[in-house]
Amino acid sequence: MRTAEIKRRFLDHFERLGHTVVPSAPLPAVEDPNLLFVNAGMVPFVPYFLGQRAPGAARVASVQKCVRTPDIDEVGKTSRHGTFFQMNGNFAFGDYFKDQAIRYAWELATGGVRAGGLGLDPERIWVSVYLDDDEAIDLWQRQIGLPAARIVRRGKADNYWSMGIPGPCGPCSELFYDRGGAYGRPGGPDIDEERYLEFWNLVFMQYERGPGSDKENYPIVGRLPARNIDTGMGLERMAVLLQGVDNLYEIDEVSPILARAAELTRKRYRAHGTSHPDDVRLRVVADHVRAALMIIADGVTPGNEGRGYVLRRILRRAIRAMRLLGRADPALPELLPIARDCMAPSYPEIAADFGRISDQAYGEEETFRATLRTGTAILDTAITATRRSGGSRLSGQQVFQLHDTYGFPVDLTMEIAAEHGLAVDEAGFRALMADQQARAKADAQARKTGHADRSAYRAVLDAHGATEWLAYQRLETESRVLAMYDADGPVTVAVAGAVVTAVLDRTPFYAESGGQASDAGTITGPDGRAEVIDVQRPVKGLVAHTLRILDGTLAADDTVQAAVDPDWRIGARQAHSGTHVVHAALRHVLGPTASQSGSFNRPGYLRLDFGWRGGLSAQARSEVEDIANQAVRADFPVTVELMPLAAARQAGALALFGETYDDVVRVVEIGGDFSRELCGGTHVDRSAQIAAIAVTSESSVGAGQRRIEAVTGIEAFRYLARERDLVTQLAEQLKAPREELADKVHALIGRAKAAERRAERLQRQLLRAEAVRLVDGAAEVAGFAYAGTTVTDGADPRQLAELVRDSFPADRPGVVTVAVPAGTGSRVVIAANPAAVARGVSAADLIKNLPGGRGGGSAALAQGTRQGQGDLTTVPPAIGALLADA
Ligand code: SER
Repeated sequence: MRTAEIKRRFLDHFERLGHTVVPSAPLPAVEDPNLLFVNAGMVPFVPYFLGQRAPGAARVASVQKCVRTPDIDEVGKTSRHGTFFQMNGNFAFGDYFKDQAIRYAWELATGGVRAGGLGLDPERIWVSVYLDDDEAIDLWQRQIGLPAARIVRRGKADNYWSMGIPGPCGPCSELFYDRGGAYGRPGGPDIDEERYLEFWNLVFMQYERGPGSDKENYPIVGRLPARNIDTGMGLERMAVLLQGVDNLYEIDEVSPILARAAELTRKRYRAHGTSHPDDVRLRVVADHVRAALMIIADGVTPGNEGRGYVLRRILRRAIRAMRLLGRADPALPELLPIARDCMAPSYPEIAADFGRISDQAYGEEETFRATLRTGTAILDTAITATRRSGGSRLSGQQVFQLHDTYGFPVDLTMEIAAEHGLAVDEAGFRALMADQQARAKADAQARKTGHADRSAYRAVLDAHGATEWLAYQRLETESRVLAMYDADGPVTVAVAGAVVTAVLDRTPFYAESGGQASDAGTITGPDGRAEVIDVQRPVKGLVAHTLRILDGTLAADDTVQAAVDPDWRIGARQAHSGTHVVHAALRHVLGPTASQSGSFNRPGYLRLDFGWRGGLSAQARSEVEDIANQAVRADFPVTVELMPLAAARQAGALALFGETYDDVVRVVEIGGDFSRELCGGTHVDRSAQIAAIAVTSESSVGAGQRRIEAVTGIEAFRYLARERDLVTQLAEQLKAPREELADKVHALIGRAKAAERRAERLQRQLLRAEAVRLVDGAAEVAGFAYAGTTVTDGADPRQLAELVRDSFPADRPGVVTVAVPAGTGSRVVIAANPAAVARGVSAADLIKNLPGGRGGGSAALAQGTRQGQGDLTTVPPAIGALLADA
């Protein structure tokens, strides 16, 4: 059964059972700052489980795109690890519970194929339940009739599910399918999870967990408002079972990529069993190329942080695997279109957007290939040095440095070293890696304290409710300090100079989000005053202000005046509206594919990153600026409207990373169709209030990513004034009216170049005259003409030696020596003309015979050094002796 068909049957089954089918959320997990990618079907529904938002329906079903990378090293080695996968799920929010969840899953899994089921053999299904979940055991036995022998109890690590971070959790029951003796030992999932493949997880979501270090060690902090169901059936795993293939990489949606990779590298997949390194590599390629396609399709671009880094790593691992398989040419242009053809039937947007997607991927491959070239050059040098010094292996330090500094993959290093007959000090390398990982872990640990803070914030939220957020309505509020924290925990009083984080019951401050910097301003209490240096939302619903106490004290429970600096806010509004205007102007000039991938703005300044290959021409850049300023001059109304997401999309509103499950979104329009974006920022009322926009730079920020920067409002005037002052200064220095400046500079550069050329010509003439003088004054030594000199005027000794050599009469054997003093010795060039070489003279031998002489070259020309700076006009005895012997 094809993957698409399994998906269809799943959704049909649950639709028949009264579920609302919802589309997959995009892969970037935008709602949860602790998560980079959606890693389970339930992630978009977390607010419903936690009771923070009311769901539109009590039971829903979806096929959710997911990315998981913690086990990335297992990809290709086992049959069931994939970085990208799709999870079929049915969810109930305070609706049905264990009884139906178990029944619904069983019916679909074992239902006849003709009747719309998946047709698994009920005799081969095993289940696991959480240790003490007798209720589930009872249901499996009584309701389903499953024999006790095929039910196993397992502990927290296996049968208690959470997202790995604070949030909803609960005991679960998993379904496994026995693939038969060919896949491993009998005895159930406790014995062999390759043979007993887990295909469905039913989570009885009832609790909320706190922070913890692994799958087992975390506290349960409370009950969820309702008992919920979250199930996940791995679509790819079900395809493995129903297509009778060995592993994830051989199903219909993936195997064409694997086949193409094998064809390109002339490898026969599974030529030697199933776990040959080449087979693993082919599976890595198939998995990663598909994952990269799906991630880029959802708006992520390769980078060095967060999601961008995960994507970069996946892409590079695929390219590296192709390289190790023997592919020297770019691989992605051959593979990505195959992945597109596999996935586009289910995700048509991938075909429509393939130009952009492939640009990103191919750009990254080019960048990585450049890295590999640099790394290879450095590696070659290291290999040569090692061999020259008689070594047989590269040091751990060399390998580590290549890996760490140049991003050169260690397996490639080993492969290339082996080609040159060298080993690699793997133990040394691993020790250095372990050190580095220990450092990274310590960092991560330090960052984890953020989690603890979050639970403190949660407690404030539970006790006092959400912060009343008035940033759109007011610049000043009277507020109460609910809690304050410093680096060590809660504080009751903060004194002048201290930096603390304060939660207020209400606030006019804008918290950093959507690219807009947080507001600046002051908090004034009965006994002191503080400046606001940062404003964030550590948990949904709560606004936290980082304060520096300026004078006096501030205490928990104080009633304070919270005041946003009005000038700051005007600047912030100008910059944020300016960002929308520049974005619209960019799309106007470059077309709709130039869409924003990130932005940042603060008073007076904005920057906007967008996907585009190659720099903007000067003309495109000024067009963008011009259109943006025309929009300012047009004095467009700026309107903010709350509307259902579907309506916003219908109206063509641009959303970064698209939909969330928020039913209502905020749409900011500038001049109607001119600019329409989903945005939570603060904006001017009319576009003329932006005053002016001046583009200050346009640059590259990674493969296929450009950044445009601009200044707005008074900063735009100041920027232009500075430019004007610069021009004035230049005009004064060059004594030219400003409109003639460019011509004047052009002429100056032309004159400078001509002067350089003239100087070179004169230098050559001087050299030639010197050569003639030397040839004319050459001494006669044993039938040779000999000329020697020392140059001190910066002339090129080699050029002079060649000139002299070539000026000796052809039938007269001639030798010339030119020295340049260097330190306590000299650099020396010796040349011999063809007649001299015919008599057996070699310049290279001559150089070595000088006192302390070193160097080499050919018979006709050699360069090196000698001791001392003695006169060469008369032939040095060592050379004289050699010439006499010739
Ligand atoms: N959340 C559970 C899982 O991902 C079931 O959907 O396995």
